[in-house]
Amino acid sequence: MPRRIVVTSALPYANGPIHMGHLVEYLQTDIWVRFQKMCGNECLYFCADDTHGTPVMLSSRAAGISPELLIERMEKEHRADFDSFHVEFDNYYSTHSPENRNFSELIFTRLKEAGSIVTRDVEQCYCQKCRIPLPDRYVRGVCPRCKAEDQYGDSCELCSATYRSTDLVNPYCATCRSTPVLKTSKHYFFKLSDYEQRLKDLIASGHTQRSVANKLDEWFGAGLKDWDISRDGPYFGFKIPGEENKFFYVWLDAPIGYMASAKNYCDRNGLDFETLWNSGQYELYHFIGKDIMYFHALFWPAMLMGAGFKTATNLFVHGFLTVNGEKMSKSRGTFIKAATYARHLLPEYLRYYYASKLTDTIDDIDLSIKDFIGRTNSDLVGKYANLASRSGQMLTKRLNGMLGRMDEQGRQLIDKMAAEKAGVIESYEGLNFAAVVRTIVSLADEANRYVERNQPWVTIKTDPEQTRTVLTAVINAVRVLTIYLKPILPKYAEKVEKLLNVGGLSFADVETVLENHRIGEFERLFERIDEGQVNAMVEESRASQGAEAPASSSAQPGVGGPFKPECTIEDFAKVDLRIAKVASAEPVEGADRLLRLRLDVGGPERTVLAGIATAYKPEDLVGKIVIYFANLKPRQMRFGLSEGMILAAGTGGKDIFMLSADTGAVPGQQVL
Ligand code: 2FM
Ligand code: ZN
Repeated sequence: MPRRIVVTSALPYANGPIHMGHLVEYLQTDIWVRFQKMCGNECLYFCADDTHGTPVMLSSRAAGISPELLIERMEKEHRADFDSFHVEFDNYYSTHSPENRNFSELIFTRLKEAGSIVTRDVEQCYCQKCRIPLPDRYVRGVCPRCKAEDQYGDSCELCSATYRSTDLVNPYCATCRSTPVLKTSKHYFFKLSDYEQRLKDLIASGHTQRSVANKLDEWFGAGLKDWDISRDGPYFGFKIPGEENKFFYVWLDAPIGYMASAKNYCDRNGLDFETLWNSGQYELYHFIGKDIMYFHALFWPAMLMGAGFKTATNLFVHGFLTVNGEKMSKSRGTFIKAATYARHLLPEYLRYYYASKLTDTIDDIDLSIKDFIGRTNSDLVGKYANLASRSGQMLTKRLNGMLGRMDEQGRQLIDKMAAEKAGVIESYEGLNFAAVVRTIVSLADEANRYVERNQPWVTIKTDPEQTRTVLTAVINAVRVLTIYLKPILPKYAEKVEKLLNVGGLSFADVETVLENHRIGEFERLFERIDEGQVNAMVEESRASQGAEAPASSSAQPGVGGPFKPECTIEDFAKVDLRIAKVASAEPVEGADRLLRLRLDVGGPERTVLAGIATAYKPEDLVGKIVIYFANLKPRQMRFGLSEGMILAAGTGGKDIFMLSADTGAVPGQQVL
């Protein structure tokens, strides 16, 4: 009987781009979901953009657009990023949706009826210039304990003291630097402590990993405090029923967004939401990072309990991403956006690398750039892809693409590989993807040893039929390895399926072999990573540091991120701007935002990859006079070399404006 499973990942905040830290979770979840589907289980993966709160409101104000337009644009970007990494949701929705409003009101009303909601007066900092009540992270000042300057309104980075923003000495608004005033207003609170025993029972029943349970014990020990779930307007969110200027705090409606996404899916697919979300017929799993455990292991299950909904079967918590052993850093260029990565490197490499590091613990996972290149080139390309390429090529070129039958030795190899199936399945199920990858690498070693022993490149000249026998075993080895790797490398598996001329492979196919079968056309599978591509990606990230807004609902303020360091007129004078004429323009396959432009610059033509495809059609550009940055160091991108940059700016999407003219200016001419 197939299992029925609902899975969620934490909802990314709509105030910033997806970066490589986020991807740990989305790739971990996607791999697990694909694995369940490949086992024949019904598995539905739901997510959404987390859209409400002060950061979105302030960013939209600064951009001069409505919050609705800002979140719409951001959702498009997030979707494109997930697509490029092959993260496949069954539904991707938004917390700014009618379903989410209904569920938020319903849960709030039920909690109120259960006596779990109380109101209390709260004193809060208010910025008269920005005209907003200031969340803790938007107030800065001197730490009341150690007197360190410039600390956030909730805790001190130096002495770790925690306090209220109203306790800060000499407070100022982090956005406009003016001194806030104190205001008292009524807030709604959720009485978390009412649920203490039920939460303890839930955790004791194995709801999450042991290390998470230990952390929760500490929190239980410190006592569960009431949770402030309302915010005064102006605030981008849902109004609290019966109130004029009070809104649900973003963290109240964010997890309810899981339900909203599920409900929207049910309505569009004729499924009964109550059965899917609230019955024993479906298992429910939430994947989250360890920074949001408090919300998901305490507030969220307590809200569900109080409102009469079932809690998740399990909460899977993962650690953070470090790069070269350190926190991601903008100045080191290791704070890498998903879109930046995808411009330089194949997403498959990252899927493979993360999988090779992921276990069921909450330990941080480290992306060591050296190891990333080494492992990809030696294991993925060297041991696995080469096995497929070399055997596939020889079979199609020299042996009419026909498989024969395996001999005893070949059959033993395949039996040995097939015998690992139960272990691979167990490791996937238990989120131990690192163990899966270790098994795959050791089986690939075994298959490569078989090739070395039988030397098909020698026997092909003397004994083609013996070579066919050997290559038949190698192709079967590739087939089993591909099945094991498919949740991690789904698009790659599709290519191999094409090469093997078979339909979609699943775990059940490990039981059978491929003999006397014609394989398909050979197509190159993977190239090795060139260190230059990685360096260019890091360089681009470093150069654009500060250009992205922080992507978390609790992140620090600063619309559009902090300003970049000062640039002198001498720095600026180094930029050599010249006239160019667009000789040709074409889309770049696999890169929705890029156009490949060939520029007539009055000398040898230059090729530039320009991120303007969302705003300009290639055919409208040919013949246009543009201005280009002539002395920008050429950059090796995944889609080719870019030799310069044309001048264009904007907030993205259709709002990108290129400097162009139809004048008689001559290509190569310098401009001011
Ligand atoms: O931490 C964050 O970025 C939140 N947007 C995660 C929300 S997860 C769920 F509760 F919606
Ligand atoms: Zn202010």
